[in-house]
Order: sequence, then structure tokens, then C-alpha cells
Amino acid sequence: MQIVSSIAQVRAELRRRGEIAFVPTMGNLHAGHIALMHTARAYGETVVASIFVNRLQFGPNDDFDRYPRTFSADCAQLAAAGVDLLFAPAEAEFYPEPQEYYVDPPEIQRQLEGAFRPGHFRGVATVVLKLFNIVQPQAAIFGKKDYQQLMVLRNMARQMALPIEIVGGETVRADDGLALSSRNGYLTPAERAEAPRLHRLLQEIGRAICGGERDFAGLEAAASAELNAHGWTTDYVAVRRQSDLQVPEGNGREALVVLAASRLGSARLIDNLEITDSGGH
Ligand code: PAJ
Repeated sequence: MQIVSSIAQVRAELRRRGEIAFVPTMGNLHAGHIALMHTARAYGETVVASIFVNRLQFGPNDDFDRYPRTFSADCAQLAAAGVDLLFAPAEAEFYPEPQEYYVDPPEIQRQLEGAFRPGHFRGVATVVLKLFNIVQPQAAIFGKKDYQQLMVLRNMARQMALPIEIVGGETVRADDGLALSSRNGYLTPAERAEAPRLHRLLQEIGRAICGGERDFAGLEAAASAELNAHGWTTDYVAVRRQSDLQVPEGNGREALVVLAASRLGSARLIDNLEITDSGGH
């Protein structure tokens, strides 16, 4: 695996390569990231990963400074996964001057995650467009774990006519259901034992909806209350349409997804579950 830290060198190296499938990350890699690398293989002859902890997408009270940085272990995992090239720029290389041009996503950036992390999706869309311009992939793979991020980026690619296929990868979970996340490392052993409750509650909501339940607000409130009764501080539990993440309109058969974000100790965990059979029959 080639490890490249300058934009000019990425361009020089990739000019001679065939179709590129790209997986952007912020490092501290786990099996969820690595699954995306394997998915990427099916979308291009050359698999490129990036590691860059993007300051633009962190708010002033977010965990930018303590975000785990584990570069050598990450490199070993990427090499073992057969990644061809890793782009890992220093901040001064990627943002040599203050970034003043942004991609400003529409209203969706102010909902759900965006309501609790103002400016987050603007920072994500901006860094991803810039990475796309450097790597020039034919396909880019993003995890469904960050469901709203995947939607923002897919819509950006479509509306900006980027010649890039945006591919969603399934969420990889621990055996007890907890979605793998770099932020799980912030959990104490007791919190780690509690953490799978989030996914269990999403599954319960999914089962209720499949069984015909239509009181979404009631389901959301009950799940929030249950989390908070077990020491969590919940930002949201929300049943939304898969197509646009808006509130479902009544009793249709639209495909739904339930998304949640909640804090446990010093970790803010997010998760979601697609509801394939909405029970609307
Ligand atoms: P990061 O959190 O490092 O995630 C990189 C990619 O891995 C994202 O597409 C994310 O959705 C995916 N991912 C994380 N956990 C996963 C899991 N358990 N199963 C499957 N995929 C998972 O997301 C970002 O970085 C950044 O916002 C980025 C897109 C790199 C822009 O800075």
C-alpha cells in the first residue's frame, strides 16, 4: 500500500491508475471501516482510502482534540484489506489557507444530527467534495451507520452532477448489536455493557411498526424515556421516511428508518435501523 500525504503526489500516483473506488475516513479504523474497503473492491480496480480528522465538521464543544488518532494500526489494517493507496494529509496540506468556500447543504442539514451539531454537514460536504476533487473516484463508499451523512452526500453528488456513484455500506455491529464506532472507545466497561440498549430499542420500534403501530411520536417518546431512565441523555429518537428523512405522512407504505442519537457518559452514540416492512397494509 502506498501512503501519500501531499495532494500533488496523490494526483501524480492516480493519473496512471484505472477506475478508482474511494473510502474517506477519519481513522481509528474498525471492522465497519474495513468492510467498506472490501465493498470498494467491487467498484474499482484501485481502492483508495483517506484518513483525515476534518476540523471543519466539529463544533466548538465536539471531540476534535480528543478524537482517537491511531495511524500505524490503521495503516496495518488498510494494507491487510488490500487498499492500494492511502491519502493521509496533514492539516496544513489539506487546508493551507482558511477554507472560505463551502458546500452549504439544504434544510436537511438542520434536522436530526444537524439540529444538535450546527455546521456539521456543511463541514462534511465541504471536505468530501474537496477529497473527491483530489482523488477523482468513479465510486465512493459511505456507511449507513451515518445515515443522514450518506443522504447529504448522495444528494450533493446528484445535484452537482458529480460523475461519482455513491454507494451505501451496511452497518457493522458487535455481537451484542452495538454499532461499531470510533467513539465506543470513550465508554467505560459499565457503559459499554449498557450501550447495546440503543440498538435493542430501535429493533423494538421496528417490530412495533411492522406490527402496524402508527403512533410514531409515542414510540419515539417511550424509547427516549427508556434510555434516559438508564443514564443516557437522548438528543433524538425519530421515525422518518428513508427517501428524504422527513416525518412520515400518516398511514402510507413508505419505507421508514428510525434514527437515534444519545449520550452515554462522555460518548455521543448514533444508530439507525431501516424498517423494511412498514406494516402499512
Ligand atoms: P468516519 O467516522 O471515520 O467514518 C468513515 C466511514 O465509515 C463513514 O462512511 C461511516 O459511515 C463508516 N462507518 C463508521 N462506522 C461504521 C459501521 N459500524 N459500519 C459501517 N460503516 C461504518 O464519517 C466520517 O468518518 C467523516 O464524516 C468523513 C465522511 C470521512 C468526512 O470527514
